[in-house]
Amino acid sequence: MNERESIISLREQLHRHNYNYYVLNAPTISDKEFDEMMHRLQALEEKYPDMSDPNSPTQRVGSDLNDEFRTVPHRRPMLSLANTYNLEEVREFYQRVSDGLHGQPFQVCAELKYDGLSISLHYRDGKLVQALTRGDGVQGDDVTANVRTIRSIPLVLDSSREDIPEEFEIRGEVLMPWQSFERLNDERSQAGEDLFANPRNAASGTLKSKDPKVVSQRGLDAYLYYLLGEDIPSTGHYENMESARSWGFQVSKDMRLCNTLEELWEYISYWDVHRKELPVATDGIVIKVNSLAQQKALGMTAKSPRWAIAYKFQAEQACTILREVTFQVGRTGVVTPVANMDSVLLSGTMVHRATLHNADVLEALDLHIGDHVLVEKGGEIIPKIVGKEGTENGKRKTENSEKSEYSEKSEYSEKSEYSEYSEYSETSDDKHPPFRFPFSVFRSPIHFIQRCPVCGTPLVRGEEEASHYCPNDLHCAPQIIGRLEHFVSRKAMNISQVGPELIQQYYRNGMLHDVSDFYRITHDKKVADSVARSTEVPFERVLFALGIRFVGEIAAKTLARKFKDIDSLMSATMEQLLETDGIGNVIAESIINYFASEENRALIERLRQAGLQFTLSEEQLSTHSTTLQGQSIVISGVFAHHSRDEYKRIIEQHGGKNVGSISGKTSFILAGENMGPSKLEKAEKLGVRIVSEDEFLAMIGQE
Ligand code: IVH
Repeated sequence: MNERESIISLREQLHRHNYNYYVLNAPTISDKEFDEMMHRLQALEEKYPDMSDPNSPTQRVGSDLNDEFRTVPHRRPMLSLANTYNLEEVREFYQRVSDGLHGQPFQVCAELKYDGLSISLHYRDGKLVQALTRGDGVQGDDVTANVRTIRSIPLVLDSSREDIPEEFEIRGEVLMPWQSFERLNDERSQAGEDLFANPRNAASGTLKSKDPKVVSQRGLDAYLYYLLGEDIPSTGHYENMESARSWGFQVSKDMRLCNTLEELWEYISYWDVHRKELPVATDGIVIKVNSLAQQKALGMTAKSPRWAIAYKFQAEQACTILREVTFQVGRTGVVTPVANMDSVLLSGTMVHRATLHNADVLEALDLHIGDHVLVEKGGEIIPKIVGKEGTENGKRKTENSEKSEYSEKSEYSEKSEYSEYSEYSETSDDKHPPFRFPFSVFRSPIHFIQRCPVCGTPLVRGEEEASHYCPNDLHCAPQIIGRLEHFVSRKAMNISQVGPELIQQYYRNGMLHDVSDFYRITHDKKVADSVARSTEVPFERVLFALGIRFVGEIAAKTLARKFKDIDSLMSATMEQLLETDGIGNVIAESIINYFASEENRALIERLRQAGLQFTLSEEQLSTHSTTLQGQSIVISGVFAHHSRDEYKRIIEQHGGKNVGSISGKTSFILAGENMGPSKLEKAEKLGVRIVSEDEFLAMIGQE
């Protein structure tokens, strides 16, 4: 065997050993032998760079840094499931299915609902070509490089299997096992870093990490639960998953086919107890009609299929003693009361802090130091106090109340990797010592505070608002830091080299006072380059980045389009603002207040000097939508509905970018008839998706 052949052979062997170890938990060689083989392969790959392969087992340790994650449309939308919280609703689902199938017999597949973040893996010719997060369900982030480091995900499938479709997607959940989660948090705590609130956050933060090497070390795992494609082997979901398991995917062994509601009850009650023994977090049971034909007949609603439902386990509660209430100040100045309690074990983690949301919730709970409080951790990240021991409040919640307080999983899984729940303490200094609420009288009821715990400014509460906030936005430290973090974030200026830690550091060193100081950084070239690139960011995102209270992404876009430049917006009257679609009193007033401030106007001037975009170009004005924003598209072939030039214009109008040649950065190829064979080959090699004319028109809503 020559060295080139050895590369192929070592890869095959290592893929197999990897599977034995990570999926079957049954290694057949020692770790030492495995490492030796890996080193041999690494050395050979270095010697023969022309044989490099992104799916080589050596890539499991992580390749180059991700610059940023491309947003890529899903080939098939990634739906979520309707949730139920009690067995009665499961019975109703069962009945609806039965009615929908006009009394036909049917089977359901019951399986565990894994609590991580969903992922869609795309395979072609037996190789992993792309991995996307759920994103908004229509398009997700390309996290392929990071996913390649997850050892239980096969990069290459056994080519001797004849039932593997040429092209398919398999979906599942990326998870951080409890063990890895605890190890990670131990390390972070020793390093004085913020802890992750739960394994889901940790998994999500890790998968979005810019450094695949970090991902590789964090011990992520994945379970797959949904196979999609034209030529999948069976007519039943369960059977398809069995096939997927035999192809090398990690598919739960705890799926059950149920013929009756009674069998389903048994499954649910068994797992309600035994799920605690699993190595990963689960938060419910998913019930799916098994026959694909019956699934098709049942169809779906706008958001979720009618053939499946998620039953969420009752949130676990624990009782502990309240020791102190502290108050935390967020980016927009909102002050949140936080309960500090004796540590208690809840759903597998130690909990000692819980949110009390706002003044109303705090008052309604009528808390005293020393109270025995009931803490609950449901689907949300942050534990909450639901009542005191012996009160009625600890009872099971209805569907609405469980969902209301925090955004749904899909949204918060896209957020930054750090728990948003770190209390304001890191920046405390001599002038601003960490706040402690002065309880002098033991057992006196706890009330909301009147002044900002950081800067002492009297708090205000807007009419009909639940929260109190500190109006000293320009000089209150957590608000300044929050604004700096918001400014660099992806949807704002996207200054990817600057994260929360660096901001804290620069702020403490006195290098950053407001967002214009970013543009004076010179000592770190990487940072300076990343900052310089942000001067290209269009006006609407600059406006969003300023962090004007209540001016979110959509409002910023509407305002930018209506007023076209910052000067017109700054001089707009209340009436003019109110004439704008979607801008009501609250937003309009906030804008007027923002620009009334001399300091804010001076800031805008400094940003203008730094070269930021404060005008919308003609080209941007003619953009119809942002469906294709951030996507690089190659056009190839001949088309039936529009000419190539028209397609170029359409792409721009929807925010996309036309590029001439295919590269790894291409989001997709809009392919008409007769696409050239060399392009096709290149696209396949790089795993770039090919979109037909009809698919493309559907994508931009012109079916
Ligand atoms: S099936 C159309 N099966 O729960 C059906 N989902 O709200 C798609 N999940 O987004 C999903 N375990 O992230 C399915 N065994 C399982 C699951 C599961 C966890 C997650 C998934 C999905 C969400 C549904």
